[in-house]
Amino acid sequence: MNIKKGLRIVSVGHYAPANTVTNDDLSKIVDTNDEWISSRTGIRRRHFVEDETGIDLAYNAAKSAIEKGNIDISDIGACVVATVRADYVTPAMACVLQKKLGLNTDIPCFDINAACSGFMYGIQIARGLLFQSDKKYALVIGVETLSKILNMEDRGSCVLFGDGAGAAIIELSDDHKFYGDMGAKGDEEVLFCPNDPGIDRYVSMKGSDVFKFAVSTVPKSIFTILDKAGLQPDDIDVYVCHQANKRIIESVSKKIKQPMEKFFINLDEYGNTSSASIPIALSEMMEKGLIKPGMKMICVGFGAGLTWGGAYLEW
Ligand code: UT7
Repeated sequence: MNIKKGLRIVSVGHYAPANTVTNDDLSKIVDTNDEWISSRTGIRRRHFVEDETGIDLAYNAAKSAIEKGNIDISDIGACVVATVRADYVTPAMACVLQKKLGLNTDIPCFDINAACSGFMYGIQIARGLLFQSDKKYALVIGVETLSKILNMEDRGSCVLFGDGAGAAIIELSDDHKFYGDMGAKGDEEVLFCPNDPGIDRYVSMKGSDVFKFAVSTVPKSIFTILDKAGLQPDDIDVYVCHQANKRIIESVSKKIKQPMEKFFINLDEYGNTSSASIPIALSEMMEKGLIKPGMKMICVGFGAGLTWGGAYLEW
């Protein structure tokens, strides 16, 4: 049994399909333009799958995190996959990955859906699982193939989202403090995607309502986490928000009175990849040398549900 209370992200990896779709490409299929999309959102392009499945994306991201951390997979004690659009209703993508990655069979493998908060829910659930595990690590993946559930006639939503996957290996630690925050405020109208056969299975969104939810909820979650940690906004080295809209991140920066330089942004390249957005961001930051040992970070996701999930992390 593990008795350590903190959490360390040991390694991260990400993967995005090679096929990129620019704003100009979208303007050929729906009434939109690069000027509108980039000025209202900050998004310039996104990646859409062609032949690959969500499991393929998740596998590549997981493999990368395992290799970068030099992880012995027999030490992995749980596999949690966060996704809005699983490849199957059942089995869970995490079970298929158990087989593909050769993970232990005596560990829990399952999917969760907390929309764009999924990865942040995922690491907190995985942390709980490690408390009752005799194994060292958990594998947490955020993966999306949202291009398959976009209504390409709805310019208010189809220009925003992209496909990709990010993965993290986590372990309990006494040397890395961890404080989390999760919540939900049920709503089936602002952001939803039906799942009944015979109905169009497309994402529907009231964008400005989601925007208002985000700009009030993310700062609240940050202050909740800071309270738990006994820290002030200035004590945090870097903030990683769900990559949905640059204007949302700018509003958060103003509300918590922290400069935009402290906020990582890569939504220009990926669009909104829902539960994959935060782990892709962490993995890119790691590759770019932007994460240094000892760094204090707060990550916050928000999305359909409506949900939010955030955490204070030490590197
Ligand atoms: O992961 C969580 C998921 N979602 C989000 O985080 C989304 C949060 N919301 C947003 O990011 C923003 O609300 C949007 C980017 C979705 C929309 O931005 P907005 O500034 O709230 O625009 P709006 O919806 O108020 O629309 C303004 C105008 C409308 O035209 P009229 O009625 O003023 O003539 C829209 O029809 O912009 C029009 N419009 C577009 N025009 C060109 C909406 N989408 C587009 C488009 N291209 N793609």
